[in-house]
Amino acid sequence: MGEKKRKVGIIGAGVSGLLACKYVLSKGHDAIVFESQCSVGGVWTKTIRTTKLQTVKSFYQFSDFPWPSSVTDDFPDAHQVLDYIQSYAHHFSLIQHIKFNSKVRSIDYEGSPDDESSSWTVCSDECKWKIVVEDVATLSVEAYQVDFVILCVGRFSDVPNIPEFPPNRGPDVFHGKVIHSMDYVAMDNEKASSFVRGKKVIVVGFQKSALDIAMECSTANGIENPCTMMYRNPHWNLPDYLPWGVPLAFLYLNRFAELCVHKPGEGHFLSLLATALSPVRWAVSKFVESDIKHKHPLEKFGMVPEHSFLQEINSCLTSTVPRGFYDEVKKGSIILKKSSSFSFCEDGVLIAGEERPLETDLVILATGFKGDQKLKDIFASRKFQEYIMGSPDRVVPLYRQCVHPRIPRLAVIGFSESLTNLYTSEMICRWLVELLDGTFKLPSVRVMEEDISRWDQFMKRYAHESYRRSCIGALHIWYNDQLCKDMGWNPRRKNGLLSEWFEPYGPMDYAHRRRSDRGWHFKWHERKD
Ligand SMILES: Cc1cc2nc3c(=O)[nH]c(=O)nc-3n(C[C@H](O)[C@H](O)[C@H](O)COP(=O)(O)OP(=O)(O)OC[C@H]3O[C@@H](n4cnc5c(N)ncnc54)[C@H](O)[C@@H]3O)c2cc1C
Ligand SMILES: NC(=O)c1ccc[n+]([C@@H]2O[C@H](COP(=O)([O-])OP(=O)(O)OC[C@H]3O[C@@H](n4cnc5c(N)ncnc54)[C@H](OP(=O)(O)O)[C@@H]3O)[C@@H](O)[C@H]2O)c1
Repeated sequence: MGEKKRKVGIIGAGVSGLLACKYVLSKGHDAIVFESQCSVGGVWTKTIRTTKLQTVKSFYQFSDFPWPSSVTDDFPDAHQVLDYIQSYAHHFSLIQHIKFNSKVRSIDYEGSPDDESSSWTVCSDECKWKIVVEDVATLSVEAYQVDFVILCVGRFSDVPNIPEFPPNRGPDVFHGKVIHSMDYVAMDNEKASSFVRGKKVIVVGFQKSALDIAMECSTANGIENPCTMMYRNPHWNLPDYLPWGVPLAFLYLNRFAELCVHKPGEGHFLSLLATALSPVRWAVSKFVESDIKHKHPLEKFGMVPEHSFLQEINSCLTSTVPRGFYDEVKKGSIILKKSSSFSFCEDGVLIAGEERPLETDLVILATGFKGDQKLKDIFASRKFQEYIMGSPDRVVPLYRQCVHPRIPRLAVIGFSESLTNLYTSEMICRWLVELLDGTFKLPSVRVMEEDISRWDQFMKRYAHESYRRSCIGALHIWYNDQLCKDMGWNPRRKNGLLSEWFEPYGPMDYAHRRRSDRGWHFKWHERKD
């Protein structure tokens, strides 16, 4: 894109938007951030009382802004996380670049999206994006023109995933109340607990939101009004990050662990190696599973998943179980109920294969979000809407998990998941500003699409039906290597062979440019030529 200074419109001021803003400014570009809320922090601005960071804080850390020493817990609570994010925004003077209470209604490309000229490579300097923004207080609308758009709208809020039901079997026939987990989270803590108190509650889902909400319901209601958790699939939810005392990061977040996994588009040598190491991959997965079964009575409650932990970690489904959860299950204040599908009747919920309805007053759908729909809805052009959604049986098509090959001058940050999303967003931001700066050029549309197809195969191979989560969790170093090579950085960030292969990689490994980075850049490009 050259060395010209750009006007960059960033949508969202959560972790991803703040990082994007900081990196864009660091390269001397002009940044304007639109945030529909009145403060920074995104999902961390409103959580339920018990929410904590699930990732060890040293992995969920801005590489140039360490956690304050006053935060001693490895898993800070939501207030501490929000304070940390806000301090980052103030420290780097980002607030002055943010327009709060400004909801982006649509973005429209002012080039020619109908022909091939919309591809990245031939897009001229005249091509602009129009951002239509509504002031949520006055409802007035204003349009902005920018050279580049970065979508940081988040994927776990705003657009709920609501299950589909047969005709006359949906929530409208039910005489009780049905809400989504996001409605529960939107209540303040007192209101939420009085809302559920004394009610028969069913929580649908078995991931983090469901676990936390069920735990809160059981605290409010005890065994008099047990909370039923209705789930489709049990999961290898984690008691902690220390299976048999070994930090999970040593099992999955180092280079050796990644050798055991087949990579997108790998050569023969890496493929053979991953095949030869498949017993190690299997053994590590079993090692973690045995620890979870040891710490949680999964067998007793029929909660042993059929899939492996390897699949779980490759789907980024590594929710931690609230402390004391299975004690509540044992006491009877939480009832676990498997159901492949369900629907509603007047008095409650009909469970597949059961004749009598499960009577209830309140159903909380902790069934996740439609992050892809949220991305789609922001585009004015039907064509770009279709492009960004891609095909439902393939991953959301983002090259390097960031740019769509056919949507020029636009990047998405925060869609791909990992085990520590802040770190992932920061890596992508680094890569993106080097692209903006012209340090490297994107390959042709065809090459980018082939690369996306290889990632699609990888995600289907390891995450199975969860492939659309676009999880790079168990291949993060290899992914970072691609970004480093593009940027001309030496991908090897550790000192010494043992550290390089066996120490976990995290945000601090990329905190500083190394002396070898520049030389490496030239070597890489010479080799490519
Ligand atoms: C409760 C909870 C806990 C989590 N815990 C962890 C964890 O422990 N570890 C981990 O790695 N990940 C965790 N995650 C995942 C989390 O989503 C990421 O870690 C990260 O905070 C996401 O940041 P983001 O900026 O990409 O998105 P968000 O935080 O969702 O921010 C998006 C921002 O965009 C704004 N926005 C959206 N649409 C518009 C629009 N049209 N116009 C203007 N503004 C808009 C929103 O208001 C919001 O402020 C958690 C998620 C949730 C929901
Ligand atoms: N740090 C924290 O404390 C915290 C708190 C809350 C959320 N989070 C994060 O926020 C993100 C979103 O979490 P989430 O729990 O809201 O959503 P999620 O991870 O997407 O989980 C959705 C759950 O709903 C179930 N589900 C989806 N569709 C269903 C259907 N049609 N019928 C029955 N069940 C259905 C899924 O079941 P299947 O498994 O069978 O598909 C899954 O159990 C995650 O990254 C999570 O880690 C973190």
